[in-house]
Parts: sequence; C-alpha cells; structure tokens
Amino acid sequence: MSDLEQRLKNKTAVIGIVGLGYVGLPLAVAFSQAGFKVLGFDIQPRRVELVNKGEPYIADIDSESLSALVANNLLQGTTVQSQLKEVDAICICVPTPLTRTREPDLSYVTRESEELSRYLQPGQLVVLESTTYPGTTRQIVLPILERSGLKGGQDFHLAYSPERVDPGNKKYSIRNTPKVVGGIDSSSTRLAELLYQQVAEVVVPVSSPEVAEMTKVFENVFRSVNIALVNELTQPCEKMGISVWEVIDAASSKPFGYMPFYPGPGIGGHCIPLDPYYLASKAREYDFHTRFIELAAEINERMPYYVTSRIADALNTRGKSLNNARVLVLGVAYKKDVEDIRESPSVKLIQLLQEKGTNVSYNDPYIVKIQISEDMLSSVELTEECLSSADCVVIATDHSYYNYQHIADKASLVFDARGATRKLDNNNIIRL
Ligand SMILES: NC(=O)c1ccc[n+]([C@@H]2O[C@H](COP(=O)([O-])OP(=O)(O)OC[C@H]3O[C@@H](n4cnc5c(N)ncnc54)[C@H](O)[C@@H]3O)[C@@H](O)[C@H]2O)c1
Repeated sequence: MSDLEQRLKNKTAVIGIVGLGYVGLPLAVAFSQAGFKVLGFDIQPRRVELVNKGEPYIADIDSESLSALVANNLLQGTTVQSQLKEVDAICICVPTPLTRTREPDLSYVTRESEELSRYLQPGQLVVLESTTYPGTTRQIVLPILERSGLKGGQDFHLAYSPERVDPGNKKYSIRNTPKVVGGIDSSSTRLAELLYQQVAEVVVPVSSPEVAEMTKVFENVFRSVNIALVNELTQPCEKMGISVWEVIDAASSKPFGYMPFYPGPGIGGHCIPLDPYYLASKAREYDFHTRFIELAAEINERMPYYVTSRIADALNTRGKSLNNARVLVLGVAYKKDVEDIRESPSVKLIQLLQEKGTNVSYNDPYIVKIQISEDMLSSVELTEECLSSADCVVIATDHSYYNYQHIADKASLVFDARGATRKLDNNNIIRL
C-alpha cells in the first residue's frame, strides 16, 4: 500500500483545495467534515480572511459548520502557494471562463499549474476539477507540472474529476452525488477514487482523464441542448395559443424516455452557457463542427431578446410601449434561490429593456446591487406600491422567496418568464 493510500485511509492525509469558490469551498468543507485537515488556497485575500473567520460567502455553506471546522483547526485558508508543499492531495477548482471572443480561457488553470510545479512533491496526488475540454489534464496540466523535474504517474499522480455541484440544490450534495474520476494511469485513478470515497458515497472510475473531461462537458451540453429545444418549442406554442408549461407537465407524466426541461429568459451561471464552447472549440481542432451544440447556444442566447419582444407585446395589449414604461424585474440571479449573477440572463434582459427606453427597477432578495452597462442599480423594496405602480412586473428568476399570488394580485400586468405562476388564474398574467 502506498504512503498516500495509507494516509487517506487513516485520515492523516492533508488535503489542499485550490480556489475557494462555489466548487472549492463546499469541497473543502466536505473533506474537513470527513475528518481531514484541509488547507484552502485562494488568490483573493478577502475570501481567505472570511474563511478563517468562519464567515461563508456562499449560500450553501452555513456559518456554524464553517466556524466549527476553523476553530477545530480542520480547515484553514491561505494565499501562500508555497504551502502546497505541505499537502498530500490537491484539488484544483479555479475558474475556466471564456475569452471575449468566446474561446476557452485556461489561463487560471495554466497559472495555477505553473505555481504548483514550483512546489510539487514526490508522492502527491493532483486532481483537476475545473470544467474543461478533453485533453486539458494530459496535454496542458501534465507538461507544466513536469517542469518540476518530477514525472507524472511515476513521481506524482494526476487525475481529472469533474465537479457536479448544483448550487442551491437541497437534495443533492457532494456526499450523494456520484463522482467520476479518471487518472493518467491506473495508480492515479485508484488514488483519486480513494480520495473522493472519503466524501462521496459513489465514485465512478473511468479509463482516462479524457473520458472524465468529456463526461462533464457532455452533461452540460445535454442540458444546454434540451433547454434550447424547449426554449424553441415555446415560440410556436405561443403562436398556436398553447401553454408550453401545460405541455411539459403533461409530457412529464410519461414514466420513461422523457425528462422535463423548462424554458426561461436564457441560461446563466458559470457552466451551461460556457462549457459547450469548450467542446465546440476543441472539436474544431479535429475539423469537426459541433452544429447541434452551437445551435443550442444560439437559441438560448436569443431568449432575452425574445422575452423583451414578448414584454413589448404584453405592454401593447395595455396601449403602452417599452419606451417610458416602468418595468419591475423580479430576480436577477441566474437561477432560483442562489446569489450568483454570473452570465445571468436577467442582466441582458434589463440591458435590452433599457436600450428601448424602459424605466427598469429590480428586486432580488439575494442581490443588493447590480452593474448594468454603466449604471449601478440597487434592489428596490418589494412593497405593494412598487408592485402596483409598475406597468409590468417581470418574473425573471423564480426565487422561492416570492409570494406569487400576492404579486399577481397587486400588479397590473405580470410577465412570467419562468412559469412560476402557472397554478394561478389571475387574468393579468402573461406567461412565456
Ligand atoms: N459554480 C458551479 O455551479 C460549478 C459547477 C460545476 C463545475 N464548475 C466548475 O468549477 C470551476 C470553478 O468554478 P466556481 O464556480 O467555483 O468558480 P469561482 O469563481 O466561484 O471560484 C474560483 C475561485 O478560484 C480562485 N482562484 C483563481 N485562481 C486561483 C489560483 N491560482 N490559486 C488559488 N485560487 C485561485 C478565485 O479567486 C475564486 O475564489 C470552473 O471550472 C467551473 O466551470 C462550477
């Protein structure tokens, strides 16, 4: 049995988590709750400071658990990368955004790999968790790490394991979400499997990092394509006077071969809008054009425009136009019950409305301020006066916090882009 295997089994291994964001912080908490000492690395001193004070900045982590872990010395945040020397296994959870031209931006991954190559120790296990295209672990991370003089698979272990965290999901956590792992060789896979078995009930080993990388992008492309399909279906449904929501509910009664996806004002977050481009870009290197994937992205990205035109139609039924109308947007987070606005379609929607001369205000219980182009908007209080004085109240994100019956009763016109009001029968509601 290798030293690392022994240390993982008797929980004396020290785990390093690099990047304490939506993915990294919950993972750091999970390992420390499993009894491991965890060092959490971030380049943002503020995040490290908050972690060390036991103050979470991510809604899924409660401050009591975090403070207890910090107080018991099980979790410590640091900005000092040389401390990577002190850990046995390292999970890299840094961002993988797109460039302005929608190409994969692996600069965080390469920069961290360069840092790590300076401190890499024999016997360490490195696992990349950031979402990326197939080939990143072996073709990009491995050669950088080998600048250390150590050889992958021989002196250190390297694997890829995609993160499947779903912020705001109360049912599925790290523990009960199966974790896929693929190493550059069999011992890397075995050690990565053993690592994640400490925090996840089911670990699924695959034959290579490339399979694990492709699995992650496939999962997100699957969502993107299916959301696009239902977003497209919404449009002829509207022309035919059919409620797409009722169609989805009826189709959901089929116990096999169907899975519901819902339309909306677009897609957001750090994954679904970005990951398909990672695969599309890589496929182009192989002279392959992923038409399905790019079409889905295009349909989803058009949704804020479609919703804007539907709001204009709704106002038109009241003899009003977007120009000078007062529109109150409810929800600017990219999905319900989270405080994340990355790639949020609400931001695009507000921008488009403002471009048409609409006077837009917003409310979001999770987001106090939001930058829209040059302007900084602040969340308004959701008073009766604020609901009744708007020419149209737009439900852009269906937070559980909202009382939809109350909203529909007080507003003169509601445009519901999320189907949050589908059980209500007020005749001032227009749904996507
Ligand atoms: N957010 C999700 O729901 C989700 C789900 C599955 C997968 N992912 C993937 O996980 C990865 C991380 O996403 P996230 O949402 O946690 O991002 P995030 O922006 O919330 O967190 C990333 C953190 O990494 C830090 N960081 C950047 N470079 C660093 C470095 N060199 N050293 C130390 N810290 C560094 C940043 O300061 C930030 O705190 C991305 O690849 C994303 O696609 C995200």
